[in-house]
Formats: sequence, C-alpha cells, structure tokens
Amino acid sequence: MKKLKIAVFGATRGMQLVEKILLNHPEAELVGVCDHYQPLLDKAAAKAKESGLELKCFSNFDDMLSCDIDAVIIANCANAHAPYAIRALEAGKHVLSELLPTQNLAEAVQLCEAVERSGKVYQYAENYCFFEPVFEMRRRFERGDIGEATAMEATFINDLSAQWPRLTRGERNNWRNHVPSTFYCTHSIGPMLYITGRRAVNVVGIEIPVQDCMKWMGACSGSAACQLMQLDNGGMAKSLHGNLKRTFTSHYSIYGTKGSMETDKYDYRRLHVSIEKPFEENIRFGRYNVEDYIPSAFEESKKELRKSSYPELGNSDYYITKFFFGAINGDETAKHYGIDIYHALDMSLPGLFAYRSILNGSIPMVVPDLRDKAIREELRYDTACTDPLVAGNLLQPSSKFGSCMISDEVYARCADLFRRGETD
Ligand SMILES: NC(=O)c1ccc[n+]([C@@H]2O[C@H](COP(=O)([O-])OP(=O)(O)OC[C@H]3O[C@@H](n4cnc5c(N)ncnc54)[C@H](O)[C@@H]3O)[C@@H](O)[C@H]2O)c1
Repeated sequence: MKKLKIAVFGATRGMQLVEKILLNHPEAELVGVCDHYQPLLDKAAAKAKESGLELKCFSNFDDMLSCDIDAVIIANCANAHAPYAIRALEAGKHVLSELLPTQNLAEAVQLCEAVERSGKVYQYAENYCFFEPVFEMRRRFERGDIGEATAMEATFINDLSAQWPRLTRGERNNWRNHVPSTFYCTHSIGPMLYITGRRAVNVVGIEIPVQDCMKWMGACSGSAACQLMQLDNGGMAKSLHGNLKRTFTSHYSIYGTKGSMETDKYDYRRLHVSIEKPFEENIRFGRYNVEDYIPSAFEESKKELRKSSYPELGNSDYYITKFFFGAINGDETAKHYGIDIYHALDMSLPGLFAYRSILNGSIPMVVPDLRDKAIREELRYDTACTDPLVAGNLLQPSSKFGSCMISDEVYARCADLFRRGETD
C-alpha cells in the first residue's frame, strides 16, 4: 500500500510524535514540519536526516498546506487548533488533532461543519484512551463484562510546575497561563466516555484558585478542577484534574450493573476487575470474582513503533497514528477505535460548560450534542473563552477568583530559565 504523506504543525509535542513514532512508520511518510520557532525546526530536520529523510521545514502553516501531503497532525497551541484544522480540511487534507479540539462553541460548530463538508477523516489524538489498561477496559465493556455503566471516576494529576518555564518559554500570553482550569479535561473525561460509549448531558464544575507555586511561574488559571456529570443513561461521572501536589497519575474506575474495572493508581500497566457472580450460584447478590492483571497489548507486533513519549502510557501514541492512518485507508477497526469529531466534542464540551458552571456559582449546565444540527444555531456565534484574540465581547476571566496580577519580572525569570535550559 502507498504510504500516506503527512506533515506536523507545532514541533514541541509534535516533535515527540516525530521522534518516537513518525520517522519510521509503516503506513506514512513524514514530509514536512511547521513551527515558527527555528531551533525546533532545526532539531526536526536533524532527526529526520539521521533517519535518512529529507524533511521540508516551514514557519508558515499555509506554505506547508500547499505542499504535496495527504494529512496534517495539528499540534500547535492547545487553544488554537480549530482554525488550522478547518483550513487543512478545506484544503482537502485529513486531520489528526492534538488536545483540545476547540476553545469555544462557535469553533465547535464550525469544525463539525468543516469535517462534514470535507468528507475527510478527522480524528482526535486523545492518547489516554489508548493507554493499554484503558483500552482493555473498552474492549471488555464492549463485550458486556460489567453490564451497563452506572458510575465512573477519573483523576489526571500532572504537577507541571517544574516544567512551566520550558512549556511557556516565559511568555505572558502563552495558552498554558490562561486556559481555564476545566479546559484540559479530556485526559480524564475522555477515557471514561471512550470506554462506555456514553456522553455527559449535564455538568457542574468547581475549581481551586491558582496555587502560589504556579503563580510564581506565571500561571493565572485555577490550578485544578472537579467536574460532576450526569450521563445520557442516567449514570454519573466525576473528573478531577490539574496541577496538584502528587507525582503524575491518571486513574480510571468504571462501575457497571454487573461489576467494575479500574486502573491501578501506581502501577499504570495494571487493571483490577470485579465481576459479580451469577445470582443462580449464590444465595444473595454482592459476591465477586476478582481479577488483577497486566493486560496484553492490543497489538503485539511492530514493537519498535510502540515507544510512547510517556513510558507510563505504553503504546498510546502509536495507536493514535495507527487508527488515523487506518481510517484514511478505509480500515473498519481503525474507524471503530479512532475518535471522530463528535466523540472529541463529547469529551471536551463538558470542560467548556463546567467553566460556565464555575463562573455562575457552580450551577448545573446542559452539555449540548452537536450531532443535532438545530442545536448548532444557538451556539454558532458563542465565542466565550479566555482568549482575548477570539472571545470578542465574551471574554471570560482565567479564574473565578478574579484576574491575578503577575509582574513582568516573573515572565522575565521564566524566559531566562528557558533560555538557559534550566527547567525540566
Ligand atoms: N496528548 C498528550 O499527551 C500531549 C502532551 C503534550 C502536549 N499535547 C498537546 O500538544 C499540543 C502542543 O502542546 P505543546 O506542549 O507542544 O505546546 P507548545 O505551546 O509548547 O507548542 C506549540 C508549538 O506550536 C508552535 N506554534 C504555535 N503557533 C504557531 C504558528 N501559528 N505557526 C507556527 N508554529 C506555531 C510553537 O512555536 C510551539 O512550538 C497541544 O495541543 C497540547 O494539548 C498533548
């Protein structure tokens, strides 16, 4: 089969995908990389050369789009994906989007419509759904092992304070300093919905203020958030995510009518399953068969490609590309497991609405389903977000606790740490 020609937009996270997955992919040939930060382009070109590839480097997205490529991986700033994804779709390219799909509702409507008009493949690169035990939970759920979903919980804690100067380069307006506490919610919400096939219909949000260690690094948003959701089948879900004082964890529990499954909080490879024994064998309910094991990989072959950027997440980065390229080539399994635009929005819209809940005293908010075209009309001009470049007169504060005044010295110190490479 002819290899797909692909290009990557944004060479920070994009570079992780290039180095670990894309330089040697059986289904795709890396043709170009675009970033306006020249040192990253130089690094990408050097890495490609080591692998015997001649990489085209661009500082302008439209220049990259005009070259001979089939697909684009969008990995620029997390709050600025939709406009570029739409341009790529309109130019006839397939799109794999990093997190998040959109930063407001108007963009969500435009992106749905662009995907539908284009007929191209759009997939969402929520790699935490493909973390092996999570992926195993999806397959067991589909088999009916724990019955209908009743309740679920997810925790995604990532204390990025040590990495903040590298991540933000000391830029006051960097997206990480301003996106709301609920924005980056799909690492926690995504797997719960992916496993069970459910969507949230209502959400309530709560956040904590920006913590001193984060303010000291220039962040303005609440440092963590909790979201409580009612699901479309009457079940419930809780998500806790953000910068809290713990080593990294992403942890998922799913309860069903016949049992439950949960990932281990410390050994990320491990899965715990409790299945209620059949009633006929018992005099009462509430007795369980318990399993505690490390699931085997979804795909055992091509081990050399399954080098995740995050060792604790196993093969997840490889699977995002496998299902994207597979779907482009018409593979039904890839289409089944890849995350399309509607499921991407199911994962991200609860975050946008949880923030509206937070700003309104934690009242419940309805989460719309953009598959319904009539609902889109109400949201078409809803630009509310924390980004002054797109919010217009609907600019939201970065935290419900009010805007925090951060001095220029803070950003100068972070920029200096970044320049000197003195950051994790
Ligand atoms: N799935 C994961 O595990 C994971 C991990 C890290 C980051 N991400 C996602 O990857 C994306 C990028 O994150 P990051 O940490 O690399 O962020 P970042 O802000 O460090 O990187 C964005 C890159 O895009 C470049 N860029 C931005 N606008 C540009 C433009 N108009 N033209 C050319 N270049 C431009 C920047 O120079 C920068 O190198 C985000 O969407 C983030 O959510 C995902």
